[in-house]
Amino acid sequence: MGSNHARRIGAIQEPICVAMMGTIMLVVTLNMVRVDRRRREPLQLQLYGQVRRAIISGELASGARLPSARDLVEQLGLSRNTIVYAFERLVAEGYLQSRIGSGMFVAHLPALERPRTGSGSNANVASSDRVHIARRVAPLTEVSVNPEYPTLKVRPFRPCQPAVAEFPLRSWNRARSYALRLQAKELMCEGDVAGLPRLRAALATYLRDARGVKCGAEQIVITAGAQEALSLISASLVETGDAVWMEDPGYLGARASFLRAGAKLTPVSVDAEGLTVPRLRQTPRLIYVTPSRQFPLGTTMSLPRRLALLEFARTNGVWLVEDDYDSEFRYVGRPVPSLQGLDEGGRVIYVGSFSKVLFGSLRLGYVVAPPSLVGAIRKVKEVEYGTSPGIEQATAALFIEEGYFAAHVRRMRKLYRERRDSFLQAAQKYLSGLLTFPPIDAGMDALGWLARDADDAELSRRLAEAGIDVPPLSAYSLKPCPPGLLFGFTAFTPGQIRSALQAISDFVQ
Ligand SMILES: Cc1ncc(COP(=O)(O)O)c(C=O)c1O
Repeated sequence: MGSNHARRIGAIQEPICVAMMGTIMLVVTLNMVRVDRRRREPLQLQLYGQVRRAIISGELASGARLPSARDLVEQLGLSRNTIVYAFERLVAEGYLQSRIGSGMFVAHLPALERPRTGSGSNANVASSDRVHIARRVAPLTEVSVNPEYPTLKVRPFRPCQPAVAEFPLRSWNRARSYALRLQAKELMCEGDVAGLPRLRAALATYLRDARGVKCGAEQIVITAGAQEALSLISASLVETGDAVWMEDPGYLGARASFLRAGAKLTPVSVDAEGLTVPRLRQTPRLIYVTPSRQFPLGTTMSLPRRLALLEFARTNGVWLVEDDYDSEFRYVGRPVPSLQGLDEGGRVIYVGSFSKVLFGSLRLGYVVAPPSLVGAIRKVKEVEYGTSPGIEQATAALFIEEGYFAAHVRRMRKLYRERRDSFLQAAQKYLSGLLTFPPIDAGMDALGWLARDADDAELSRRLAEAGIDVPPLSAYSLKPCPPGLLFGFTAFTPGQIRSALQAISDFVQ
């Protein structure tokens, strides 16, 4: 608008829900209304005309509650009489209804109501088949990263799910309140785009100590989970048409991120020692690996393979993306130190996440970038995503500093080991003719191999209808692969594990 004479009604930016008499009523904004004092038309008529048009066009839906006259006086700078005049006229003409003690509402006018595509959506919005969606979105429709559940409850055996019922919420809340007491105002402002210095410092210490990562806090950028870290890496390094090698089968979130950046994906086989470095004429821009525990096969990359991969990256100028998403959960022997810690050539970009070790909806992860890449990654973070939530970062920092994090990891490692044992015992009892489970040394999932001629996608689909969520191995594979189903065991009690496995056994018979 740009005019001093034009005023906007509705300082309220979003509809506010008001609970009244057991129903939820929306207080709408009147942001669409503009009154202009330079015009000869009286202000009350401008207001009347614009609200009337908004009701007729459907912009103001029937039943919507309008802000009070007092709020509008303040927001508009108009006199109460002006507003009351306009509203009385709209009431008299049947557009508005006044309910004593409740306020002013848009009247129910069936003839004006059009079918809508969703709550609050504009009836005039073109349906998606008429909208031009950018071409790079098309390949993503084949990738499903999150299940579409009708409820929030996680179904057995959704892979990679932490035991949220065992999360130390009291300690988390204590850390959160303490963080807010210390520096509430600072945390409510947007801080350093690379993340809260305190969290980056705590993480650098943890990663050096627990994962053998060679890094300083200045190399860390805090992200919204590993997914944002992968997007930042793709956006910083991958040009359209660049070759990206991916473990096959491999993580769908990574596949989606590289595809969106326009990469040409090359599936690379994984054997008992991890990714097999192929001899191809074209060298890739980057290679994505999960060396601590390959997702979804569960193998750990051997030392000779790690050294060979690092040498390949160094001599060919290739970037390695090491996704270390659940390495805290190793049940046999000591955790294997990171690939990044072995790297002398500065070719490894390390990605981590709190999604598995704390909880998924926290949406905190991080990337540890070689010094030569930090600037680019920070820049993409700044312009595309902005700062990560300060209060959650401060809470996570205190959680680590105060030792809650280490204690939680120890407890979950023990719990998950017990759940792994319960799972394998019950699987032996109920599924022995159907699936073969190799030993599980680490991680949150069990991969069950089916008979060679089985159709894993079809079986997974049928089990989904019975409320069992076990993705097929073929869903993670670009090349044809032996059939298998992926079972997450960490989020379910031994009782839940037994009854769900029994249900599968009953279902397939
Ligand atoms: C291989 C792999 N990397 C990373 C993640 C974590 O992603 P995020 O931190 O975005 O939740 C997952 C989650 O399932 C995963 O399987």
